[in-house]
Amino acid sequence: MSILKKINDDLKESLKHLGYDVENINLLPSKVKELGDFQINEAMPLAKKYGKNPRVIAEEIAEELKKDSKFTNINIAGPGFINVTLTNEFLTEELNKLVDNVELNIDKPEPKKVVIDFGGANVAKALHVGHLRSANLGEGLKRLARLMGYTVWGDAHLGDYGRPLGLVELEIKKMYPDLPFFDETFTGNYDEVELPITNEDLEKIYPLASQKSKEDEEYLEEARIITAKIQNKEKGYYELWKRIVDISKEDIKEVYDSLNVDYDLWLGESDSVEYFDELYELFDKKGLLKDSEGAKIVELKEDTDKIEMPPLLFIKSNGSLSYQTTDLATILQRKHEENPDEIWYCVDGRQSLHFDQVFRAARYAEIIDPKVKLEFIGFGTMNGNDGKPFKTRDGGVMTLKSLIDLVNEETYKRIVISTDSEEEKKDIAHKVAIACLKYSDSLPFRGTDYIFELDKFADMEGKTGAYILYSTIRMKSLLKKAEDIKYDKMYDLYGNVEKEIALTLMNLPTVLNKTLETKSLNEITDYLYKLTSIYNKFYSENKVLIEENEEKKISWLVLTKLVYDVNMLLIDTLGISVPEKM
Ligand code: ARG
Repeated sequence: MSILKKINDDLKESLKHLGYDVENINLLPSKVKELGDFQINEAMPLAKKYGKNPRVIAEEIAEELKKDSKFTNINIAGPGFINVTLTNEFLTEELNKLVDNVELNIDKPEPKKVVIDFGGANVAKALHVGHLRSANLGEGLKRLARLMGYTVWGDAHLGDYGRPLGLVELEIKKMYPDLPFFDETFTGNYDEVELPITNEDLEKIYPLASQKSKEDEEYLEEARIITAKIQNKEKGYYELWKRIVDISKEDIKEVYDSLNVDYDLWLGESDSVEYFDELYELFDKKGLLKDSEGAKIVELKEDTDKIEMPPLLFIKSNGSLSYQTTDLATILQRKHEENPDEIWYCVDGRQSLHFDQVFRAARYAEIIDPKVKLEFIGFGTMNGNDGKPFKTRDGGVMTLKSLIDLVNEETYKRIVISTDSEEEKKDIAHKVAIACLKYSDSLPFRGTDYIFELDKFADMEGKTGAYILYSTIRMKSLLKKAEDIKYDKMYDLYGNVEKEIALTLMNLPTVLNKTLETKSLNEITDYLYKLTSIYNKFYSENKVLIEENEEKKISWLVLTKLVYDVNMLLIDTLGISVPEKM
């Protein structure tokens, strides 16, 4: 149980003793520091409820709290705001319990099973800057949910279904018409066929084919036919498609690896298709499928809709499945395979209508238990200085790889470490780059667009990943220098900064629970900055290692260890790795 929860429970007990029953007591930081650490505002609602004067109730409560040794300086302000201060004895005693495990200061919610759908990668297309946010947010939420005791599956849900694949194969066919994949009489082993295509080629082929299909109706028709062949698992075309997926997946994995992003499930849209028959039956049974110009659609309009809800395209007129339908089939698949309590979708905010449609249709057809929560976690875009999605210097689409390279170069220039090993320096620069990129990406509320500012993001000062890493490594090195000292408990808090550090440490569970509620990592990045900068203030004001008062020195080391451990826990939750030095 967290320290805050313990205080809260004790407060509830005290109020109960006075005859007042309250669910939960909001411990707010006091507005005026001199008045106390926390404010308790319970007297006002209680006065209403019991028809009494709030000031009288506040006095009653204050009298009762005086019996509790963890509080000091109990005073009443205004109509009945009660201010309390926590004693140093209480704080040190509670913090000492965390020395071996800061995770004891977390309040875990009811356990749940969650599938997190994030990343958004599409086969045969390069990951671009727009894919950063989904990967970063999803990975962070995955790690947080695990920390909070949930059972979690991260699923890449690869975009591996539909026209893009047909287009890519068509273009390959034009380039290499003699490949056995296109030879209907081929009877050999496809796995042994050499494919002269690299991932780099794929990334060029798709834009080219897509452009051609826009200009040439015949080309488009050919691509449609090939798409259908792949979807009907026609030998050669299907085998080629599997090879393309493999080449592409390998590259996608490499980029995600460099971002510390990984998945438990590497399923794709196409894997949901085996659940389509069951899906069809569920929709059909409820009479939800309507014919419309050769297609099958599901009407979703409701009287209370504030915005127009277009029908969902269930089967296209050419017989293929839409993006919505594969998402519906995927829900069914997840029900059968993971049976989660919740499914979270970390996807670009501009897809919110798509998910409104999918979720509504899923409810209509009751494809999953109504208790299962389907949550769309939309995010804003990362823009360039012009306020438009970040581009390369010549105005092209910026791939995620080139974005990472750009930040790598910048951090390489900035780090000043003494090492003869070029490899080591590059590794450190890369870790710092990922920290800068991910930390800055998590700084604004997820729904907000933000501007990519390399200079600012890679700065060693201020709210940046580099600052957090640098400071945390410094804490580690201080602790390393104190290796021979036995520091296992704090004796006291000796000054205001230490008190502030202690109170900030106490706030960890609030930050984690809020993040889990808002599904936005900005709570964590903010908190990391706050804790780190107060600690740094303490660090610059005190010379820990040469302190002569032994108890003081030991207390300071313990405090350092607590901040270090919390920092490491949160840095890891953000999916950031810490270099040995920087
Ligand atoms: N691949 C999709 C895109 O690039 C995002 C997939 C999001 N997840 C989902 N279940 N629809 O737009």
